[in-house]
Amino acid sequence: MIPWVILYNAMSLDGRITGFNADVELYYELATELDVDAVLMGSNTVLTGFGVKAGETVEEAEDAFKPRKKDAADDRPLLVVPDSRGKIRIWSELLKMPYIKDVLVLCSRSTPSEYLDFLDERYIDYLVVGYQRVDLEAALDELNTNFGVKKLRVDSGGILNGALLREGLADEVHLLIHPELVGGTTPNSIFQAPDLEENDVPIKLYLDNMEKVKGDIIYLKYKVFNEKLK
Ligand SMILES: NC(=O)c1ccc[n+]([C@@H]2O[C@H](COP(=O)([O-])OP(=O)(O)OC[C@H]3O[C@@H](n4cnc5c(N)ncnc54)[C@H](OP(=O)(O)O)[C@@H]3O)[C@@H](O)[C@H]2O)c1
Repeated sequence: MIPWVILYNAMSLDGRITGFNADVELYYELATELDVDAVLMGSNTVLTGFGVKAGETVEEAEDAFKPRKKDAADDRPLLVVPDSRGKIRIWSELLKMPYIKDVLVLCSRSTPSEYLDFLDERYIDYLVVGYQRVDLEAALDELNTNFGVKKLRVDSGGILNGALLREGLADEVHLLIHPELVGGTTPNSIFQAPDLEENDVPIKLYLDNMEKVKGDIIYLKYKVFNEKLK
C-alpha cells in the first residue's frame, strides 16, 4: 500500500509556479489544514527555498553531529526529500523548520557513498530505493509500511510532480490560483515531463472542491482518476 498523495501548488493564472507573488502565508496556512503525515519536497525546491547551490554547505554547530531526541508523540509531518545525487548539504538548516519533526532522505544505488557517509555523520536517516533514480513507488510503499505515512503532501516543482503523475502515484492536485499572469517561455509549471507519445492520453481528473479563499485567490481541489489500488 502506498500513501494518499496530494500535489499542492500555488500558481499564477497562466499556470506558472514561479515568477509571481505567491501568498506564502496563505499557502502554509492551507497546507497545515491538510493534516498530512509527511511532506515530500523536491531537491531543487529545497535548494531554491534556502537560496543555496547544489553541494553548498553551511557552518554547522556541534549538535549537527550528535543524535537528535525523537519524540514518538510529535505529530508534525516528516520531511522527505529525494536526493539521489547528494545535492543537499544543509540538513541542519532544514531541521530548524518549525513545522517538521525530522527529515528522511531518499537515495538510490547510484548515490555516491561519500554522500551516505555525509548523512551518517550527521545522523540523518535515509532510504536507498531504486537504481539510477529514486524508485518513488517503492519509497512511498516503505514510507507507509515503516514510517506510518498514510497521507502525504508534495511540496515541489513540476519535475517531481511530473514523475509522480506519470507513474500514476498522485491522488489529488490542489492549486491555489493567484490572479497574476507571468508569461515567458522558461518558467516552470506544475507538470514537467516528456511530451506525450502518439497514443498516450492526458491524465483525467475531476473537481472535488472550489473555493474563493482570500481576495481573488481560488483554491481548486481535483482528484485524479487513478488505477492504483490504495
Ligand atoms: N509555487 C509552488 O507551489 C512551488 C512549490 C514548490 C516549488 N516551487 C518552485 O519549483 C522550482 C523547483 O522545482 P523543479 O521542478 O525544478 O524541481 P523539484 O521538483 O523540486 O526537484 C526535482 C526532484 O524530483 C526528483 N526526481 C526527478 N525525476 C525523478 C524520477 N524520474 N524519479 C524519482 N525522482 C525524480 C529529483 O530527485 P534527485 O535529486 O534524486 O534527482 C528531485 O528531488 C523552484 O523554483 C521552486 O521555487 C514552486
